[in-house]
Amino acid sequence: MTEQKILILDFGGQYNQLIARRVREHHVYCELRPYDTPLEEIRRFAPMGLIFTGGPNSVYLPDAPRVDPGIFALGLPILGICYGCQLLSQMLGGRVVPAQADSAREYGKTETFFDTDCALFKGLPGQSVTWMSHGDYMARIPAGFRLAAHSAACPTAAICDEERRFYGVQFHPEVNHTAYGSQMLRNFLYEICGAAGDWTMAGYREQAVAAIREKVGGGRALLALSGGVDSSVAAALMAEAIGEQLSCVFVDHGLLRKDEGDEVEAAFAGRAMHFHRIDAGPRFLARLSGVTEPEQKRKAIGEEFIRVFEEAGRQIGAADFLVQGTIYPDVIESGKGPAAVIKSHHNVGGLPEHVAFREILEPLRLLFKDEVRQLGRELGLPEALVSRQPFPGPGLAIRIIGEVTEEKLRILREADAIFRQEIAAAGLAGQCSQYFAALTNLRSVGVMGDGRSYDWAVALRSVQTGDFMTADWTRLPYELLDRASVRIVNEVRGVNRVLYDITSKPPATVEYE
Ligand code: XMP
Repeated sequence: MTEQKILILDFGGQYNQLIARRVREHHVYCELRPYDTPLEEIRRFAPMGLIFTGGPNSVYLPDAPRVDPGIFALGLPILGICYGCQLLSQMLGGRVVPAQADSAREYGKTETFFDTDCALFKGLPGQSVTWMSHGDYMARIPAGFRLAAHSAACPTAAICDEERRFYGVQFHPEVNHTAYGSQMLRNFLYEICGAAGDWTMAGYREQAVAAIREKVGGGRALLALSGGVDSSVAAALMAEAIGEQLSCVFVDHGLLRKDEGDEVEAAFAGRAMHFHRIDAGPRFLARLSGVTEPEQKRKAIGEEFIRVFEEAGRQIGAADFLVQGTIYPDVIESGKGPAAVIKSHHNVGGLPEHVAFREILEPLRLLFKDEVRQLGRELGLPEALVSRQPFPGPGLAIRIIGEVTEEKLRILREADAIFRQEIAAAGLAGQCSQYFAALTNLRSVGVMGDGRSYDWAVALRSVQTGDFMTADWTRLPYELLDRASVRIVNEVRGVNRVLYDITSKPPATVEYE
């Protein structure tokens, strides 16, 4: 692992993961840890600088989250953002108060004036737009600090003590609305912390391979491959590290998109490892027979998946390690409280009970999704696989409303392939977050040639989203929708109607079940 690290202390703000991604985009390794991380752990982590994030609290309230005051004596540069800035200020002797309505309280894009002698703003224009979102402000700044930015409403938009290398900004440099936010973070990393920018995926690959080899030794590892980005990249990385000591089990549940199973197999064809493809389509179909209720469908697929995987695992024999494609956002989010269950998500690679293994290995647990994709490219996985849009574990089964049958799977596969081809042909693949066809359980009357038809209606769906928690439907060009519709009705037997879904999430969800 690189020697140069930034530690980000998390006060619960909504942009906190974004701060971490931005730091890494500047090729500096960082981790996000809770704000009350003990001093001893911080010392052990040995960061070259600290960032305090924003958060929903007010620093003057008695139970406001705070850092160990010893943190200010570590001699490390600190950048406080929003709540982090107010905390820095208050703990070092400044005064933070609620802003009166219309005075120093700000929300949204704000024209801001900078002192470009401050290292944080070095080389940037003296005036630009920042993204503000605060109801408190610093009425008095601590001794040793000076003002480094202001806006019309807020005289204390940024502060600095360059001697101790403490910096605080009231706005959010991590969001794109702050015009020079990326450069400000870069200044903090390179000018203030002295970063060299040595965090690259090529470097990560080398270090990860060495670490996996050391950990696994002469042992054996077992991996459930779904064909999704995470498990595929984990498989390629593990294969590079331990070759034949790795067994990958690819359970083809027969609910994949057109040609997908063969593409996954081809991507791993030449690699040193034991690759087992299990064509379990008929078995899943049998299990799904008569099942129409969405949660039951999801549960049946999840259980069947584990069972098939376990059977394969038993045949392969005991493994020392079970490999999982867990990525960093899962690790960070698992610390949060339980949310209401809207759908029971199923990800292949869930824990089998009847497969013997000693330990779980998560070689991607420190990477963000875009870094996982980059690593996949480094490892030579095909672009189609690496840049694949998200695809749910239960596959096409939750895009077929009602009972899943072989005939319906055929219809959906063909229609979905056409829609995806048309999106790609229009050059829109990179701009739509997720797009697919679904098969409704609606049949309706149509006229084809001179005859009457009574066939299925296919729904097309495309959404725009950053986090998939909320999503807006994509305003696709009519011409594109028209081409997709004409082709689907002409080329896919059994379809006489095509609908476009214009519902956002909420109130709908992305998938249909
Ligand atoms: P929803 O339908 O909940 O989908 O709005 C949000 C995102 O999650 C994906 N999704 C799943 N992914 N296993 C997965 O791995 C699942 O069971 C599952 N269900 C939904 C969905 O494709 C979308 O990207």
